[in-house]
Amino acid sequence: MPETINPLRYPGAKRSLVSYINALLEANNLLGCTFYEPYAGSATVGLELLQHDCIRNLVLCEKDILLYAFWHCVFYDTEALCNLIEDTPITIDTWLQQLPYREMTELDQTPLIELAFAGLFFNRTNFSGILNANPIGGINQTSRYGIDCRFNKAKIIAIINQLSAYRNRVDINLGDALQFMRTQNTRFLRENCFAYFDPPYYVKGPKIYRHFYTNRDHIALSQYVRSVRYLDWIISYDDAPFICGLYSNSGARYRPFFVDYTCASRVRTQGQELLISNLPLPPFPLENVAQM
Ligand SMILES: C[S@@+](CC[C@H](N)C(=O)[O-])C[C@H]1O[C@@H](n2cnc3c(N)ncnc32)[C@H](O)[C@@H]1O
Repeated sequence: MPETINPLRYPGAKRSLVSYINALLEANNLLGCTFYEPYAGSATVGLELLQHDCIRNLVLCEKDILLYAFWHCVFYDTEALCNLIEDTPITIDTWLQQLPYREMTELDQTPLIELAFAGLFFNRTNFSGILNANPIGGINQTSRYGIDCRFNKAKIIAIINQLSAYRNRVDINLGDALQFMRTQNTRFLRENCFAYFDPPYYVKGPKIYRHFYTNRDHIALSQYVRSVRYLDWIISYDDAPFICGLYSNSGARYRPFFVDYTCASRVRTQGQELLISNLPLPPFPLENVAQM
């Protein structure tokens, strides 16, 4: 597959699933569908499928206002965002100035463009792209890796400009994934729709996302996918007995399917991720399916 085009380096991004989900769409006559990613994060899967013209439209939803604002400005306020990236020094002083934005979890009068920049800034200057983490190199910048080592302005601006060309095919929404999906039933009826649910990790979620899920939320997702009509879907999860339990007792249809991105084995070992779908899942790694 050609080089990935994504301005974020996001924890839990699922690039390794792009070819797999493309094959799933192809096997089920869903190429050209409206593709939902209701836990957007860096929206790696949807954005790559869009750039390869495998899907017609991409609908994103994200609860974190910093990420929502970022994606909104990538597509609808591109020039202002690129100018801000160009003009802002990538230093510890800027990091400290951005901190008040990190305290915010609800939209207020703060301009979206400021939140958008803060989202990108923390993503690219913090350890592992974690918005709530400390800066690369530490507050005192004593490491040989400085705060700007993952912030290649020219490259980020080029990617944002390239992505912005898709603005007419992308719809960005702020809010809770399940509440949002419940507003989409008419569209599910009218169009070929597919949803990729990548909820916050069960185990590590609280450490890496500003919004994470409780057991009740994970249960609510499992109930939602069982009840939704006119929508095909796949969920990816970290391997946790609680999550397996939520889907194991629903018959062969939604049987958890374990994949190992690293050794590509189908035998269950520790640290694997699991996939659950209402569609029959192809073998992993893909057999007889050309990699994108
Ligand atoms: C596992 S990450 C998704 C990663 C994404 N697939 C990617 O490629 O980057 C889960 C995302 O869900 C978001 N999130 C948490 N609670 C949410 C909620 N109730 N509704 C929508 N998004 C939520 C988190 O902020 C995080 O960005």
